[in-house]
Amino acid sequence: MLRTNTCGELRINNVSETVTISGWVQGVRDKGSLLWIDLRDRYGITQITIETEKAAKELIDTARTLGREYVITVTGKVAERYSKSDKIPTGDIEIYPDKITILNAALTPPFTIEDETDGGDDIRMKYRYLDLRRNPVRRNLELRHRMAIETRNYLDKLNFLEVETPVLIKSTPEGARDFVVPSRMNQGEFYALPQSPQTFKQLLMIGGFDRYYQIVKCFRDEDLRADRQPEFTQIDCEMAFVEQEDILNTFEGLVRHLFKTVKGIDIPELSRMTYADAMKFYGNDKPDIRFEMKFVELNDVVKGKGFKVFDDAGLVVGICAKGAAEYSRKQLDELTEFVKRPQVGASGLVYARYNDDGTIKSSVDKFYNEEDLKKWAGAFNAKPGDLLLILAGEENKTRKALSELRLEMGTRLGLRDKNKFSCHWVIDFPLLEWNEEMNRWHAMHHPFTSPKPEDIALIDSNPGTVRANAYDMVINGVEVGGGSIRIFNKQLQSRMFDLLGFTKEDAQAQFGFLMNAFEFGAPPHGGIAFGFDRLCSLFGGADVIRDFIAFPKNNSGRDVMIDSPSIIAQSQLEELGIGLKK
Ligand code: AMO
Repeated sequence: MLRTNTCGELRINNVSETVTISGWVQGVRDKGSLLWIDLRDRYGITQITIETEKAAKELIDTARTLGREYVITVTGKVAERYSKSDKIPTGDIEIYPDKITILNAALTPPFTIEDETDGGDDIRMKYRYLDLRRNPVRRNLELRHRMAIETRNYLDKLNFLEVETPVLIKSTPEGARDFVVPSRMNQGEFYALPQSPQTFKQLLMIGGFDRYYQIVKCFRDEDLRADRQPEFTQIDCEMAFVEQEDILNTFEGLVRHLFKTVKGIDIPELSRMTYADAMKFYGNDKPDIRFEMKFVELNDVVKGKGFKVFDDAGLVVGICAKGAAEYSRKQLDELTEFVKRPQVGASGLVYARYNDDGTIKSSVDKFYNEEDLKKWAGAFNAKPGDLLLILAGEENKTRKALSELRLEMGTRLGLRDKNKFSCHWVIDFPLLEWNEEMNRWHAMHHPFTSPKPEDIALIDSNPGTVRANAYDMVINGVEVGGGSIRIFNKQLQSRMFDLLGFTKEDAQAQFGFLMNAFEFGAPPHGGIAFGFDRLCSLFGGADVIRDFIAFPKNNSGRDVMIDSPSIIAQSQLEELGIGLKK
């Protein structure tokens, strides 16, 4: 071993021990008669002190050649520090070295390896191995490790088995594009990388593994956002002989266990909201309920006063921002600009200030008198000091836009504290959604999701109203997990593929293996998958999952460190049978 101790370990009770520590040079300060080296490893920083008048020349010469990030081993005696530091846990001691060995020199790093670095995103990604030396990144990965351990502890105690499923598979439709891998031995044919192990975990249920989980890589070729990576990790789970209630309880238990053991937080029982209510009150299937600000529908209150925008609108709907009546003209203009952004998509914003003196002034005073506005305030249950923000237009678009405005106001009013957690279930999702572009039904969760038994009769007459036994877990407005009770009957599964526009032949060719398996004694089953990266970033108080992945891709799906994806040799392409011969 090139060390007896780590750089984070030595304390006052180690004084006068002879130790060997190894690590990276954080910095060297040379004051002539005294020379200090800060030596860093994963565990902390220890100060090495050299009294140049007393130390051997060779030792001093070595110390003076050191640069940032040199890798060294130091053997010496632990001593009590003359001037102690309470900034680091090793701040009471220092080491007087007898020997310093340079294990490896280092180039000057392209950014400072400190908590607040001067390196931008791109350069840090290119030299990710240097970024990993920084405390914030290291702490994120330590958190991730702890989350994985505690997940395994919890599920193991409940008899779940971790089973690995294959990575070279055939496409599973989860709504995104597949990454594909050409097969050399079967030229012209391709494997797909799993978007999730969905069909395999169902087959494991049929195989008798009644409680399965896997912390598993999934791959989806979709447009990237802060909370999406092309390869990401799921805590993927499935149970047999269960109903929705059992799944909700078991996995609510998992998340509560994680909060308790990893963050020391007791979270209350999760509340449940139907999809219909989530859309009605928050315009969003993953509402952030750290704050209230529910939607209030105003069609009955505002129509018929000659204001065309409201009169012509399918829906007039608003929110009440508590205590924001003092918003300046400039702030209100900013909000108007915000809702008009193409990503939000509203055509304008109507507001009304309920002033402290009890008067109400709106941006549409021409059409609405004080008495009308009092009715508005009544509908919102608003109090003096509140600000009413109202959008109007086509129903779905308007709800979506107001949802964005609600989140924006939540942020502006400081209601979205990252250290406060609000977890809940959204249940009763629709089974199907209509895809305008393709002019057909699309499975809202995935095609293996079971309709609610009481809605099965509606499949033929009114498919859009059929609800599914499907659920999402939402924490602070982030969908951290989703799952469903599955179809386990061949006829119903086949009916589902019909609805989704598959021909009998296509359904059989793509999913025959599963439907056939249903005929060999499939137990009722259901499950859930959590986005592990999302869960970790939430626990770490961050929005960007990249910071919780050791080697992530950038927003263009590239790994800039290894420069991937990259072109491959013509000979490789030809070997795979996909080369274009010149
Ligand atoms: P779903 O598609 O909802 O369900 O995925 C489960 C969870 O995975 C996370 N997630 C992602 N995280 C990071 N980057 C991505 N690109 C990404 N895509 C999804 C989300 C999501 O809630 N097989 C089903 C689960 C089941 O039915 O049991 C499935 O994969 O947090």
